[in-house]
Parts: sequence; structure tokens; C-alpha cells
Amino acid sequence: MAAKLRLGILTSGGDCAGLNAAIRAVVCRAIRTYGWQVIGIRDGSLGLLNRPLDYEEFDLRLFSGSILRMGGTLLGTTNRGDPFSYPMPDGGKADKSQDFIEGYRQLGLDALVVIGGDGSMRIMHRLCRQGGIPMVGIPKTIDNDVAGTDAAIGFSTAVNVAVDALDRLQPTAASHHRIMILEVMGRDAGHIALHAGIAGGADVILLPEISYTLSGVVDKLGEVMAGGRNHALVVVAEGVRNAAGEKQSGIGHWLGGQVGPRFKAETRVTVLGHVQRGGVPSPRDRIVASAFGVRAVDMVAEGRFDRMVAWRGGELAEVPLDDVVGINRGIDPAGALVATARSLGIYLGETG
Ligand code: F6P
Repeated sequence: MAAKLRLGILTSGGDCAGLNAAIRAVVCRAIRTYGWQVIGIRDGSLGLLNRPLDYEEFDLRLFSGSILRMGGTLLGTTNRGDPFSYPMPDGGKADKSQDFIEGYRQLGLDALVVIGGDGSMRIMHRLCRQGGIPMVGIPKTIDNDVAGTDAAIGFSTAVNVAVDALDRLQPTAASHHRIMILEVMGRDAGHIALHAGIAGGADVILLPEISYTLSGVVDKLGEVMAGGRNHALVVVAEGVRNAAGEKQSGIGHWLGGQVGPRFKAETRVTVLGHVQRGGVPSPRDRIVASAFGVRAVDMVAEGRFDRMVAWRGGELAEVPLDDVVGINRGIDPAGALVATARSLGIYLGETG
């Protein structure tokens, strides 16, 4: 059995559903199996940057009660606290990486479990290397674009929210003979859009990874209407570019403005936004988070650091952080789900 350790844990980057289930699993495994202390660091990197340090010691009370079911993160988080480029009151940026490392030392920690997305993995991996801090990562992000893992905590719940939105939009679209455009999150990757679009019966799915043309979208919607259906559903990921290939904030509304005037049917746009990040975590997210949390603690116990727990081919796995950072896991345009969508007649952009 590993020596009695003092384990730090933090959540970093944008929140999502399932983070608390992962914290719970880490606390449970570390205390029940190994008899360690678990120190929760508040608000991501800020808990170790602030003076006094901002943290709490967990006990097994965390394991009972409602935590498994709760969205958000009980530890708090930030996606504005990069210690290498820390925002200062005067508007400038400062390197606070040594403050973070000193904070870790002051707490007397032996290792750190970081629950984060691609940006957090990159920053924390660099930081932990610089400070000689043994780190294990747990992937989370509704965008599901962390490299090296098929699943990240939060994705399943976000897809459920988006599908639920489509299930609600379809009847009102049919009642009013409308084209409904649903903008979902996905800054660089279209996983939510592709999964929700297939599950929710979309006619058009636009992804950052596949280029499209306005005429392609219009032709598809025209085909749907000509086929006798009085309504249509379009799903667009927020990271999709406009027709000029530029990043467009509010791509859903932009698309609505382009498509609407070309049809007799009215067009309405729904931007789902942060609704996708909150709410009760899906069973799938709770299961993945629980499995990740337990394995992460075992990795610490066995000294397997600078690695991230992963889900690959339906199994728990581990990947070196060097194979994760700096890589965005987007949709494979030649992959099976894209082929499925195309086979169903969904327009995703031009082939080849
Ligand atoms: O990375 C997850 C994500 O939800 C993206 O899909 C989205 O672009 C971004 O975070 C939103 O970040 P913020 O919470 O800062 O608005």
C-alpha cells in the first residue's frame, strides 16, 4: 500500500455536469482505500495563487448525500486564471507560476489531481513540470475535444440537453411551419452538434471541422420543404465560421439572417449557451466521472504521473500528458458518425 499521502484536487476551466461525481470518487478512493488526506483547492489555480491559500480538507461525508447528482463543481473553477499569464488589475499580464508552486508546497501536498479540459491540461502540465509536482489529469469538457480520450466528463449531459431542446423545437416548428436553427456549444469541435443533430433528427448539421456552403444549406432545406414537410431543423456549432470563412460570434443568428429570406417558412434561432453546462449529470457522465476518479487515485498510488486517465474503446485507459496537450480532438470527417449522418440525408457540408 502507498504511504499516507496528502492529495490535492482542483477543477479548472469551464464547469460541466459530472465534476462533483469525479471529486466524490477521488475522495472516496483516496480515503477509504488508502487512508490519505484529500485537500480540495478552490477556484482552480486561484486557490493556490491567493494568499491566504483557499482550500478545504475533505472527509467521507462528501461520499454520502446529494453530491453525485449535483451539476457544477463544489470546488469552484476559473477559466481566467492561467498562472503563466495572470490578468492584473492594470490590464497587464504577469507570470505567477512560482506563486502557484509555492502555494502547493505550503499546503504540504504530495500530488495533484487536476480535472480539466485541453487548455487546463496544457497549463497545469507545464506548471507541474516546472514545480516538480506529481500530477494526474482527469478530462472534462462538454466539447469532448480533449485528445487521447473518447469521453470527457460533461459531454453526455450536454448532448442530452441539446437533444431535449430539439425534441421541444420540432413540435413548435411543425405547428408554425418554421425552420428552427439551434446553436450549440463547441468552440473548436462539433461533437455536441453532430451527436445531438443525429439523435434529434436534424436536416442540417454544421460543424467547425467540415466546410459548407450557404447554397448547400438552402438546397437541403428546399428539398425538405419540396418533399412535403412543412418544417426543418438545423443544428450549428458555435465554432462554425461564416460564409467568408471568418469566426462569427452568433453564428446561429447570422445563419438565420441568411437562410430566412430565401423561404416562405419563417426562421427562428435558439442559442442554447450555458444551459448545456449545467443541470443534473447524466448517468453516463456520473459513471465515467466515477471511473476516472477511482483510476486517477490508483495512478497516484502507483506513481504513474504526468498522465491522464482516459476512456478508449469502451475501456478505462491512461495516456501520457505529452500526447494530450496542444492537440484538439475534432470530428473525423471520414469517421463513422459523419458517414451515418450523410447516409440519413443530413447535410453536413461538402464532401471530399
Ligand atoms: O469549452 C467549453 C465551453 O463551454 C465552450 O463550448 C464555450 O465556447 C466556452 O466553454 C464558453 O466559455 P465561458 O464560460 O467563458 O463563456
